[in-house]
Amino acid sequence: MDITTTDLGLAARVADLTKTYGTGSSRVTALDGVSVGIRRGQFTAVMGPSGSGKSTLMHVMAGLDAPTSGAAWIGDTEITGLSDGQLTVLRRRRVGFVFQAFNLVPTLDVRGNILLPFELDGRRPSGDESARIEALIARLGLADRLSHRPHELSGGQQQRVAIARALATAPDLVFADEPTGALDSRTSREVLDLLADASKRHGQSIAMVTHDPIAASWADRVLFLGDGRIVADKPRQTAEEISAHMLRAEGERAGAAQGEAA
Ligand SMILES: Nc1ncnc2c1ncn2[C@@H]1O[C@H](COP(=O)(O)OP(=O)(O)OP(=O)(O)O)[C@@H](O)[C@H]1O
Ligand SMILES: [Mg+2]
Repeated sequence: MDITTTDLGLAARVADLTKTYGTGSSRVTALDGVSVGIRRGQFTAVMGPSGSGKSTLMHVMAGLDAPTSGAAWIGDTEITGLSDGQLTVLRRRRVGFVFQAFNLVPTLDVRGNILLPFELDGRRPSGDESARIEALIARLGLADRLSHRPHELSGGQQQRVAIARALATAPDLVFADEPTGALDSRTSREVLDLLADASKRHGQSIAMVTHDPIAASWADRVLFLGDGRIVADKPRQTAEEISAHMLRAEGERAGAAQGEAA
């Protein structure tokens, strides 16, 4: 496979990726031969029914989970086959991740959680970085919660801390798993604006899982997963177009299931 010419412009990609869990009758195929790239500087939304493999795909692309077969690259570094130590360093320097379950450190306050990526990298933010982090904190409405611990925050506030932490080091590549899932529409809009800005103004590459057609309509590109496969790959869509596509896909699934049952 020719990596040098075809993959310029891809911030991350996977080739023929499969991921299975369990064995025998409890075997689940979470990803089934997925090949896709996340384009540099683009905001990509990933949609699909619950259980279609979205989180698994994000985890494997970010090097948080190993595939059963296939390969994954971050930039032009193949990450499948790297040691845990090498992966940790690569991720720390280049990747931000917003988990579906936030993953905040319970013993650290909000500021400590946001600064954790620096802490783990054994350095302090520079003056410019500090200014950017303060701006993120203000924009995400966290300024008056900085000395609170995660359990003292609402779900939406915790989610915003996780977003601030993922963006704190201005990583090249950001994976966000339903980053607006716990947010009201005004706060969602702020987060989406932040992610869109990160790609447009700062050239960061963003991959965002969402169930919300309005959130996905902010993206430059929308990938649809179904049963562990990429079933559609579309340029920017309106929320109405995305909803229509999802309804059609669900109808087809229901139809196929009826066909199987008949
Ligand atoms: N650790 C695990 N062990 C066994 N099965 C798993 C594990 N993680 C995920 N799966 C299965 O893999 C499939 C894909 O899961 P995944 O979490 O990627 O879905 P998703 O598209 O993110 O769904 P949701 O929208 O509900 O978050 C599901 O059938 C799930 O049950
Ligand atoms: Mg998920």
